[in-house]
Amino acid sequence: MNHKEALQHEIFKTIGQAADEGQVKAYVIGGFVRDYFLKRDAKKDIDVVAVGSGIDLAQKVAQKLSDKPEVSVFKNFGTAMIKHNGLELEFVGARKESYRKDSRKPLVEDGTLEDDQNRRDFTINALALSLNQDNFGDLLDPFDGLKDLERQLIRTPLQPDITYSDDPLRMMRAIRFSTQLDFTIELRSLQAITKNRERIKIVSKERIVDELHKILMAPKPSIGFALMHKTGLLQLILPELTTLQGIEEVEGQRHKDNFWHTLEVVDNIAQTTDNLWLRWAALLHDIGKAPTKKFHKKIGWTFHAHEFVGSKMVYKLFKRLRMPLNDKMKFVQKMVLMSSRPIVLSEEHVTDSAVRRLVFDAGDHVNELMTLCEADITTKNLKKQRKYINNFKIVREKIIEVEERDRIRNFQPPVSGEEIMKAFDLKPSKEIGIIKEAIKEAILEGEIPNEHGAAYKLMLEKGKELGLKVASA
Ligand code: CTP
Repeated sequence: MNHKEALQHEIFKTIGQAADEGQVKAYVIGGFVRDYFLKRDAKKDIDVVAVGSGIDLAQKVAQKLSDKPEVSVFKNFGTAMIKHNGLELEFVGARKESYRKDSRKPLVEDGTLEDDQNRRDFTINALALSLNQDNFGDLLDPFDGLKDLERQLIRTPLQPDITYSDDPLRMMRAIRFSTQLDFTIELRSLQAITKNRERIKIVSKERIVDELHKILMAPKPSIGFALMHKTGLLQLILPELTTLQGIEEVEGQRHKDNFWHTLEVVDNIAQTTDNLWLRWAALLHDIGKAPTKKFHKKIGWTFHAHEFVGSKMVYKLFKRLRMPLNDKMKFVQKMVLMSSRPIVLSEEHVTDSAVRRLVFDAGDHVNELMTLCEADITTKNLKKQRKYINNFKIVREKIIEVEERDRIRNFQPPVSGEEIMKAFDLKPSKEIGIIKEAIKEAILEGEIPNEHGAAYKLMLEKGKELGLKVASA
């Protein structure tokens, strides 16, 4: 079968010519070819395999290009990379690889195209299109990858045990592709992942997290987390989540399964936001429930302060997975910490002052917090569901109202500490703090507007109560 139309970009002709001149065979392989058949947007990173030296081919290609791009050579891996017109071209010599037991780094030997295809992760990633002039566009598909694309199947070219044990990152990749593409992982493969799961430990945390990000950004992330759970990988990577699984019953009182609930929340939020960190917050919003779970005879199950405990756990989890300990982590912590606030607030009549406090505490992230809480509604009780949705709508409206009127989001006290010191001729002292707090409280409670005049008047009253004397002008 010929698929010239996949190779319309001028770069493929150039590579083909360079390969002909160097008398090597060259193919485009991997994600670019897969995504062409899936009719996804053309990938910008393109993998080229040469039966011979990939580095030599890269150098020849670079000479032919008018912008004379630099060739980055990775001698140890036998690969070379060129950046050209927004494309990233990766050249590799076809190889027969064998892996060491304790490392992902392979020992490399030269091989044929088929050797190379054999050593790739999945049949759908082993499709190759020829670039030499005499067979430009021919598809080489020795493992029926095209058929697997049609069948929507993730399958390994070799025995799955070998493929996964060669490079355990592929266990995560299988699950990630299955989530992104909504493909099924072949049963033999799933069994091999389960069997080899412990080998995930030799994979760097960064690579694992990269796959987790991709799973979280998929349209339905629960597919991936459920597969990770089923194969035992989740227990090794995110045990905070697996311990949420299960329903306990004491004296006829049950609590919900917080693991499956969490996955529902993540799927819900995937429909309303592409903010990766908000999706992380959804994934972690209930992790504090495992260590705080208690049963009380009178009130049943409680998870007292789970939001606080959960937000502390976020730090440890990020640290363990070598994720950034920066404002992104703080954002996730804040979302987890505040995750129950809107629900508590909307259980009763939604008051202006409660909304003002919510906006004050959530600051710039109040809308994201609302998005999280809306996703958190997973009750199957339609009456309750309607009540929550409706109340959250009211909260959203009130947030806008309160924002317009009181500008609480990035609250700056309308009377500054310096002004208070000047008014009462004070040195820095605890009275200043007391007065400032009283002004803030009065604004949040709606007793005074967020304005200088009203706040100044309150300052004078509070000062008087504290026995302070107004300084003479
Ligand atoms: N590959 C592999 N084993 C890995 C990683 C990659 O066999 N652990 C092979 C696959 O043939 C893959 C190609 O290398 O198609 C390129 O890998 P990469 O760029 O990481 O992924 P893509 O398949 O291109 O897809 P994506 O960009 O979605 O990750």
